[in-house]
Amino acid sequence: MLAGSPHAASRPLPRPTSARSRDARRTGRLIVTAGAEIPWNARVLRRQDPSDHVRVLWIAPDAGTVQTFEPGQFIQVGWPKPPDPDAPPGRVRWIKRSYSIASSPAQRMAYELFLAVVPGGLLTPRLFHLAEGDRVWCDDVPKGHFTLERVPPGQHVVAFATGTGIAPFVSMLRHYRGTGRWRKLTIVWGSRAGNDLVYDAELRAVAAADPTVRYVPVLSREPESNAWPGLRGHVQVVLEESAFTQASGEPLVSAGTHALLCGNPAMIEDVRARLEARGFLLDKIREPGNLHFERYW
Ligand SMILES: Cc1cc2nc3c(=O)[nH]c(=O)nc-3n(C[C@H](O)[C@H](O)[C@H](O)COP(=O)(O)OP(=O)(O)OC[C@H]3O[C@@H](n4cnc5c(N)ncnc54)[C@H](O)[C@@H]3O)c2cc1C
Ligand SMILES: NC(=O)c1ccc[n+]([C@@H]2O[C@H](COP(=O)([O-])OP(=O)(O)OC[C@H]3O[C@@H](n4cnc5c(N)ncnc54)[C@H](OP(=O)(O)O)[C@@H]3O)[C@@H](O)[C@H]2O)c1
Repeated sequence: MLAGSPHAASRPLPRPTSARSRDARRTGRLIVTAGAEIPWNARVLRRQDPSDHVRVLWIAPDAGTVQTFEPGQFIQVGWPKPPDPDAPPGRVRWIKRSYSIASSPAQRMAYELFLAVVPGGLLTPRLFHLAEGDRVWCDDVPKGHFTLERVPPGQHVVAFATGTGIAPFVSMLRHYRGTGRWRKLTIVWGSRAGNDLVYDAELRAVAAADPTVRYVPVLSREPESNAWPGLRGHVQVVLEESAFTQASGEPLVSAGTHALLCGNPAMIEDVRARLEARGFLLDKIREPGNLHFERYW
């Protein structure tokens, strides 16, 4: 669950104005093309609005339980495309997008997803208006290889995330914490401002209680006038001089370490190049390496 975020209070958003469309979404019986009923298969169990541009949604499949998944995997969420007069009647076409699952697989009722609205995007502006109880589509099977499957136990796992790219690491932390899965886990999370750090309180609490976990938030747009005791800039600041040693308690070396990068593709390209220069090797199916990434776009 979203533990103790000071920014996580729910605030109402504008709802669809048409009573017909609202009722139709709630019952899952909205007609989009002649003869086509939308085969919704899930609903929003809970929603939190940490800020104007991010949401945490809990999506509960109608099946009553989520599918088994590995922390780090994603689920596709969908919304019907507008009716196409040229499409065969009875066929619903979906706008589908992938979302990393933030919950632990032990949380069986719903997938917890952390979303940022992309202005002008096809799906996120729609997902942002969903209320608790609203219908949605989600894939039956979580997918993806951005997991600890190819990371041997006992490593130093170093995670670099931007924005909502923190989600897979939250799932890993919730699932593997206290199991000895890693020797050490250092999470470096870059966000624009303090109110984007939705999982900040949870991550701080775990790091304070568990000596194997280090948490390093980095803010790029927090006003200078605000008292922010942490690092400023991009996640790359921890790769400069002794900053990593200070943040993590040990130097960043390739041996015995796996680096996982998630989120903004420009961050991934840049951090990847810097880590390769330090001896990290990209993980490939037939050539195991210690550098893994998940690009969000
Ligand atoms: C494996 C995977 C996991 C993902 N997990 C998450 C997640 O946990 N949370 C999340 O919010 N998103 C996640 N994404 C991104 C998500 O799938 C969508 O791309 C995003 O929500 C935008 O969808 P849209 O339909 O609103 O925008 P679109 O209409 O698809 O996109 C418009 C344009 O915006 C750009 N764009 C896409 N995503 C972003 C972004 N986050 N920030 C800035 N620009 C962007 C793209 O260049 C795109 O061309 C993930 C993507 C992948 C591939
Ligand atoms: N967060 C907001 O205030 C806000 C408001 C409205 C809409 N949105 C929209 O929400 C979506 C996602 O926003 P987001 O803030 O979650 O994610 P984001 O734009 O990917 O930014 C997350 C963090 O990554 C940083 N970053 C950007 N480029 C980088 C690079 N090359 N290397 C390392 N770090 C880099 C950002 O710094 P910079 O500050 O330098 O970009 C920021 O600190 C976007 O479409 C955005 O337009 C966000």
